[in-house]
Amino acid sequence: MTAVPSEETRRSLAAQRRYDRQAALFDFWEAPMEMLAFGRLRRRLWSQVAGARILEIGVGTGKNLPYHPAAARTVAVDISPRMLRRAAARARRLGRETDLVLADAQRVPGPLNREPWRGTRLGDFPFFPWEP
Ligand SMILES: C[S@@+](CC[C@H](N)C(=O)[O-])C[C@H]1O[C@@H](n2cnc3c(N)ncnc32)[C@H](O)[C@@H]1O
Repeated sequence: MTAVPSEETRRSLAAQRRYDRQAALFDFWEAPMEMLAFGRLRRRLWSQVAGARILEIGVGTGKNLPYHPAAARTVAVDISPRMLRRAAARARRLGRETDLVLADAQRVPGPLNREPWRGTRLGDFPFFPWEP
């Protein structure tokens, strides 16, 4: 018997393939916008964030990591292994303690949907710990 993937699964896999393809050049392509606007917006956004624990969904290559509150512990989720690998390299360069998780955010139920997010244990939902 052949399992037919659901529409949701197909979309997730398509997103994973798309971002895996883009990962190597993602930062290069976005560099102009980063210089013109994104960098400033990231700084402004993250200056309003306080807390000891940060959960970032769709961390990409980790461009927000430098702006996370210095003392915070970050858990960062992404569906693309190649994007996550770049986020891992950035976290290492920054010397930031960051738990990187390879997962489809659409399949992370319950705890992540609570507002505000507090005290979520990754063991509460299916995930693949990332080991770069
Ligand atoms: C446009 S990039 C933005 C990356 C980063 N937040 C930034 O500001 O540069 C979107 C990211 O979300 C991730 N993503 C897309 N769908 C996802 C899903 N269902 N679960 C987890 N990550 C997902 C992609 O792999 C990609 O790295």
